[in-house]
Formats: sequence, structure tokens, C-alpha cells
Amino acid sequence: MVFKGRDLLSLLDFDVDEIRIMVEETLRSKMEYLAGRREWNLLRGRSVALIFEKPSTRTRTSFEVAAFQLGAYPVYISKKDSQLSRGEPIKDTARVLSRYVDAIVARVLKHETLVEMAKYSDKPVINALSDLFHPTQAIGDVATIKEKLGEVKEKRVVFVGDGRDNVAHSLVLASTSLGAHVKVVTAPGYEPLDVVIASAEERARKSGGSFSIEYDPCKGVRGADVIYTDVWVSMGFEDEAEKRRRDLMPYQVNEKLLKCVGNKEFIVMHCLPAKRGEEIVEEVLESPRSAVWDQAENKLHSARAILSLFVP
Ligand code: CP
Ligand code: NVA
Repeated sequence: MVFKGRDLLSLLDFDVDEIRIMVEETLRSKMEYLAGRREWNLLRGRSVALIFEKPSTRTRTSFEVAAFQLGAYPVYISKKDSQLSRGEPIKDTARVLSRYVDAIVARVLKHETLVEMAKYSDKPVINALSDLFHPTQAIGDVATIKEKLGEVKEKRVVFVGDGRDNVAHSLVLASTSLGAHVKVVTAPGYEPLDVVIASAEERARKSGGSFSIEYDPCKGVRGADVIYTDVWVSMGFEDEAEKRRRDLMPYQVNEKLLKCVGNKEFIVMHCLPAKRGEEIVEEVLESPRSAVWDQAENKLHSARAILSLFVP
């Protein structure tokens, strides 16, 4: 299993065993953190560029802190403060940055930008969210499911809302890899990309899980162990806001929908930031079932795991 020096653009490029290792490393590193460890020195003398075209609270902070804890120096570069804002091509930026730093963590509007960046960078490029995927989020999320429910295998993981969302795509790929029964409950036209569906089915065959799509919200959440949702209007999709709110309203995660789960224990997850009153309501987000704060914390541990695995 080789991670050092590889790009992490999408979980599509990683097999089920590699995804399992990323999740296990997250939980192992968290145990050390909970025991009081704050310094690892695994990346002493290295540096990491964090280049962001879109806003971020959690991903930026968790990668910056994780780099620091590993002994590496994080350099945050927002698009608007760099020459990217004046039209310098991504291929020039990538070639230059990769001569200064040991890895590039990048959040981009278009996934193709990451592909271009990876082509021209001779250091690993790690996707900190694109329009299509949010792989580092999913590693922390699946670690959270394992932590809360003991195991991911055979758990019923239901994503409710925009099924073509970056977070949904990565959650589907990661949780089918670990043997979960994964369902996307969405409106027609919001199904995951075909390439994600095909890969999820293939992963489920290998891991003993399953993958399906359901349009009926109440039927879709029945028997769930995990109900996961994300915003209906992702960054960069603001033009479609009105239509998305209309189409996805029946999929709001509220008390009425949660009654459909049945009489059992389950957790509610959200990558945050949440739009209260849209994809989720306040009472659910703040309820004892909500795992969102531990989930957000696990982004720090997954960022540390990913940097330590991938940065040469
Ligand atoms: N979950 C997540 O990626 O949050 P940020 O946009 O704050 O990084
Ligand atoms: N799907 C959301 C996730 C934010 C972390 C977005 O792309 O805006």
C-alpha cells in the first residue's frame, strides 16, 4: 500500500483497502490525540500550501492545525490574494508552488482545476473540496460512523438531499468501501454521477455492502443507522438556488422524516455549514442524535492522518 507522493483528488482512485487504512489511521491518530499528544514530528521540515478558491472554516483550519501538529509549515493562499486572481494559469501556479512546498491542499470551483494542478505539480495534490468530491471529509465522516456505531460494515447509511453533491459522492464511495448498505434518497435529476454509482456498486460487491437510490423520502430512511445530509445549494451553484430549494424540500431532515426511520437508535450527520430551515431543522441539528460536532472534530484527525500518509 503506497500513499506517499500520490495525489488524493477523488476516492475513485483508491481501493477499498486503501480507504480502510485512511479511516483506521484517522482513529488511531485520534486515540493518541485524546491521550494528550499534540506533536508528531512526522513531517518535520516539510511545508504544505493550502490554496483555496472558495471559503472554508473547518477544512482550512483542520489542515493548518494538522500540518502544524505534524511539524510541517502550512502556507494559506486564498485565490483573491494570489496572482490566480489576476489570471495566472493554474499550471504555472502548480509548477511554482510545488518547488516551494512538499504538498498542495486545494479547494477549487471546478474539479478539472485539481486535475490540471496535479498534472503540473510534482508534489501530491490533496482535494480540499471540488464541485464533484470532498474526499478528506468522507474519511473523517466514515471514521465518525465507526466511532459512534462500532462498525461501518452492514450499517445502513442514508444520504438524504442533493445526491449529486460533492459530500454525497465521497460519502457513498467511502462507506460502500467499508461494507455499509448505502442509500441515496433524492429527487429525480439529483442522483449521483454515473461514475460514482458504478464504483459504489463495485465496492459494495467487494465489501459485502450495497448501494441503492430511493426517491420516496419516508421509505428511503426506514431502518437507517445514519441519516446524513448536506446543503441543497453548494458553493458555486447559487444560480440554481430557487429550483433546488423547491425540488429538495420534501427531503428536509426534520422530526416528521425521522419518524419514518422506525423505533431504533440512529445518528444524524452533516458536514457543516448547515442551512437551518432548508436541508435540516434546528431541533434535529441540536438533538442528542446529532453527531455533527464530533464529526467536525474528526476533520482534524483525518487531516493529520491524510497528511502523514501522503506527504513525502
Ligand atoms: N465541512 C467543510 O468542508 O466545511 P468548510 O467549508 O468550513 O471547510
Ligand atoms: N456541498 C457543500 C459542502 C461544504 C463543505 C458545498 O460544496 O458548498
